[in-house]
Amino acid sequence: MQERAKQRIFILGSGGRLGAALMKEWKELYHLKLVALSRKELDFSQPEAALEVFKKYELTEKDFIINCAAMTHVDQCEEEPDLAMKVNATTPRLLAQLAADTGTRFLHVSTDYVFDGKLERPYQETDQPHPISHYGASKLAGEQAVLESSPHHFATRVSWVFGPERPSFIDQIVERALTNDQVAAIDDKNSSPSYTKDLAEWFQVFLKPEIAGGIYHLCNSGTCSWREYGEYALQVAARHGMPLRTTSVVPLKLSEMKNFIAQRPQHSALDIKKFTTLYEKPLRSWQEAVEEHVRSKL
Ligand SMILES: NC(=O)c1ccc[n+]([C@@H]2O[C@H](COP(=O)([O-])OP(=O)(O)OC[C@H]3O[C@@H](n4cnc5c(N)ncnc54)[C@H](OP(=O)(O)O)[C@@H]3O)[C@@H](O)[C@H]2O)c1
Repeated sequence: MQERAKQRIFILGSGGRLGAALMKEWKELYHLKLVALSRKELDFSQPEAALEVFKKYELTEKDFIINCAAMTHVDQCEEEPDLAMKVNATTPRLLAQLAADTGTRFLHVSTDYVFDGKLERPYQETDQPHPISHYGASKLAGEQAVLESSPHHFATRVSWVFGPERPSFIDQIVERALTNDQVAAIDDKNSSPSYTKDLAEWFQVFLKPEIAGGIYHLCNSGTCSWREYGEYALQVAARHGMPLRTTSVVPLKLSEMKNFIAQRPQHSALDIKKFTTLYEKPLRSWQEAVEEHVRSKL
């Protein structure tokens, strides 16, 4: 296919854990032309300047934008709430409005942290968000602004993102178990891990023009605590020959985490039924995804 005829996919935050996974996994979709924009090209802390830069791409309705850029450090957002709001809400709003003006669809990646974590079942898209941190509040403001810009835009909430492009919790726990006889993790905080490789496959669904805009929850199926998630990763690593000093994880309580600045939601698993109706196959379990990730690093 001629370069000019290809659909342009703008990946904002292309150097992050999810953005880099999309760049890698989608590079062989030859009918697409990926346009990677990292912080260097598009600085979300400068909303007006970012808008001016983005205007130069002369969007058309054939293009598609995926926003993976975000200030994701939860405690840093608590300390710098104005910056968090600029990066996670103001700039996404301006870019989503620009996209709406040209009929370009905009997919904004959001988070389970828009919820307060008090519900004892997985959150559905229709549940009322109620963030308990500045990170969560800024992400909620971002998704609301994007969805207000156009009924065709998307807010996809993901949780506990892991993948090969940037180390996350499970990589750190495996690393620690290589040199420590004891490792610990919180046992009374639950959610659903999301593997970047799977997200990259599922996100392709949103390129279909017939998919209705709105909120979608996306993560691997099943829920677990941080302790169970970490312990499973250790067991996979040990089964495949990693010389770990322990394969069990000592339970901690969320209330014991005195070094956390921001509050974290306790139960923030996401209900994925809405997305599952669009995707023809079941979403694989978090255990299968962790197994593949850990094995890929051996
Ligand atoms: N990680 C999780 O567990 C998790 C959970 C739920 C939802 N999410 C959501 O998933 C999305 C992707 O997260 P991720 O895990 O890929 O996070 P990440 O690895 O921290 O990536 C975030 C990206 O945003 C970029 N960024 C940060 N500040 C910026 C700024 N001022 N201007 C432009 N770019 C900036 C970062 O650039 P640099 O590389 O230069 O820092 C990085 O490329 C985010 O919307 C996040 O809120 C993540």
